[in-house]
Amino acid sequence: MGWVLGIESSCDETAAAIVRDDRTIVAQRIASQDAEHAPYGGVVPEIAARAHAERLAPMIGGVMEDAGLELTDLDAIAATAGPGLIGGVMVGLVSAKALAMASDVPLIAVNHLEGHALSPRLADAQLQFPYALLLVSGGHCQILRVDGVGQYRRLATTIDDALGEAFDKTAKILGLGYPGGPAVEKLALEGDPDAVPLPRPLVGSAEPHFSFAGLKSAVLRAHESGAYRDADIAASFQQAANACLIDRLARALDRMEAVPALVVAGGVAANRTVRASLESLAAERGMRFVAPPMTLCTDNAAMIAWAGIERLQQPGFAADPLEISARPRWPLDPEAEAVRGAGYKA
Ligand code: KG4
Ligand code: ZN
Repeated sequence: MGWVLGIESSCDETAAAIVRDDRTIVAQRIASQDAEHAPYGGVVPEIAARAHAERLAPMIGGVMEDAGLELTDLDAIAATAGPGLIGGVMVGLVSAKALAMASDVPLIAVNHLEGHALSPRLADAQLQFPYALLLVSGGHCQILRVDGVGQYRRLATTIDDALGEAFDKTAKILGLGYPGGPAVEKLALEGDPDAVPLPRPLVGSAEPHFSFAGLKSAVLRAHESGAYRDADIAASFQQAANACLIDRLARALDRMEAVPALVVAGGVAANRTVRASLESLAAERGMRFVAPPMTLCTDNAAMIAWAGIERLQQPGFAADPLEISARPRWPLDPEAEAVRGAGYKA
């Protein structure tokens, strides 16, 4: 029986969870920092790090208590070691190191993106490798082919903003608050998606990468012109962003050897327009469409614990050294060529 404690603190969710190797999430706690960051319309790194530092230790104690476990009952302690906002990542990783040292339990430093990439297998025992993964959140926007644990090929990333970030910025322009995705989606229901002419950056280009900065600037200009209703801007933005997403994904799938499943993860997977388009694209290509429950799609610690379990089950598993450093950037596919402009999302 394997029990792993997972810790997540790379962005604006503080989370701890205990997962068993039979895919049971034995305990989990999560605290969002939406209220702290809302006045700024986006995540402020210093505020995030401080909030993680205040909340994480009691949260870990809480899940251990919920599960009725002692540290020495654990088979590993897995913590996000990057990529992400470095202050927050350090809070989680240092806590994991201290607990691992005190209890002599192996430490597993998890790539946050690997947590997202493998989380669908926590929810769905039938999901076998390989699969195509679309990761769309506030911090990430990537298309990967997942061939196995530690085997990732990145086909596309964003050269500027992530898709969730574009939703958040549009919400900020329209004065809808943070996080913006759900608010934009709601307002879009009352608008005409064809009312505002907006660009579709990179659509039709050969490489399947994403770009959303130009779309955001066009939203700002449309809003400042005073010529359009906010609901029409929201609906037109959502339609344009979705068109970009589907075009780029189709391009990436064309370039990939056929895989049986299309998997989506990340907060933007909650968007109904996006989800419906992904479902039809998968159906067109004869692929199974897999979307884990939202609680596993957005940042959480169960996916980090699960990545730890998958690592533990690899032949020749070795724990990570306690000296391992937090990494603000940590590409899943080190072979992928650097894309101009890509930030920590790479
Ligand atoms: O995965 P997540 O919780 O955190 C990150 O790792 O970023 O994703 C949050 C992002 C935010 O940008 C949020 O605006 C977006 O996902 N999001 C949505 C929706 N719900 C959340 N975007 C569009 N439509 C939604 N319904
Ligand atoms: Zn994430």
